[in-house]
Amino acid sequence: MGYGRSSRIRTCDPLLPKQVRYRAALYSDVGAGIASALANRKKLYKEEYSSRHAIRGAAPAMKLGLKTAMIPVDGAAQPAARCLEDGGLVAFPTETVYGLGADATNSRAVARLYEAKGRPSFNPLIAHVSDLQAARQIARFDERSLRLAEAFWPGPLTLVLPKAAGCPVSDLATAGLETIAVRIPAHPAARDILRAFGKPVVAPSANLSGHVSPTTATHVLGDLDGRIDLIVDGGPVSVGVESTIVGCFATPLLLRPGGLPREEIEQVLGEKLARIPDDDGKADAQPLAPGMLASHYAPRTTVRLNAATLEGGEALLAFGPHLIPGSDQAIVMNLSEAGDLVEAAANLFGYLRDLDAKGPRAIAVMPIPHDGLGEAINDRLQRAAIPRS
Ligand code: TXA
Ligand code: MG
Repeated sequence: MGYGRSSRIRTCDPLLPKQVRYRAALYSDVGAGIASALANRKKLYKEEYSSRHAIRGAAPAMKLGLKTAMIPVDGAAQPAARCLEDGGLVAFPTETVYGLGADATNSRAVARLYEAKGRPSFNPLIAHVSDLQAARQIARFDERSLRLAEAFWPGPLTLVLPKAAGCPVSDLATAGLETIAVRIPAHPAARDILRAFGKPVVAPSANLSGHVSPTTATHVLGDLDGRIDLIVDGGPVSVGVESTIVGCFATPLLLRPGGLPREEIEQVLGEKLARIPDDDGKADAQPLAPGMLASHYAPRTTVRLNAATLEGGEALLAFGPHLIPGSDQAIVMNLSEAGDLVEAAANLFGYLRDLDAKGPRAIAVMPIPHDGLGEAINDRLQRAAIPRS
């Protein structure tokens, strides 16, 4: 079954109660466009905010002790760009929803972003750029994707494309995938910030993980006060639902229905977008897009978790100041000698790749604490450790 009234898109957030999961039905193939999405939006908010306390109760939003400044859009581009340059987290309006931006090329900033959102796993992020030329520096376009870009950018469309050679976006932001999600937003404030910054900005919706995406600066403040550096207040956004995501593969796939109706995309493509199978009811459902493509980064080398000692021929992915017995004989990369989970998250995908390239018999991984970003790190490591045929 495809996008029927009952189908739901799964996220990877276990905190997200079923009733507030993003609903494909709202923007389904019945021809629903922005207007009906907006009408439904109100209902979704009602549901979300009534369940909000329950979510909070389950996972209290620990503040990260930051002072969050709020500034109006006028004149915001320069301070926002400076904040991004310093590795800061900046919430800004796009035409779809408010995004929480970080320098896409700075793994540490990206790790902070996951931490600020309280994401339980590293769902890959959308890289936002100011124009097509910048998009072509991070992704490879073919004739078909170029047609979509020219028809709908700037606007509420995200394209998942093969990464360009030398793409500077952090592996953590793309969850180690060979593909990258790219979007040129239409909101003038977003474009000004992107132009002033001059590098790609990853920006998930600026809400705590498990909450509905924010459409005003006040929503952002409600979720992220004390967890991010800056909020650019541009008033309410116009579209109010996230961008439509199209996977530009041999068969173009609708990965997430959103602010741009499917029919308009199909018209430009001259073909139907393939639907994703309905995974409703499966306990082990993966986050929509990566799960669909079964393309989470997986090292070729076997990964052994929670290692207490090293066995012959293994390399070590270490964590913390105290290495395990056998380490002195082995190739060791330490995610964070200081035991800092933010630093560890920033290093995770790069180190896995580096160890994989050295061709050890296996990669042994020391235990990683499960608090804070540790949960996401362990989630990614568990996926990497699943035996493959
Ligand atoms: O409207 C939007 O798209 C907003 C604004 C801020 O631009 N952003 C947004 O980001 O909704 P986020 O992180 O909430 O959703 C990004 C989605 C996720 O479902 C993720 O799985 C998918 O994009 N995604 C990112 N990279 C991908 C990739 N390489 N392959 C497949 N899916 C990908
Ligand atoms: Mg989101």
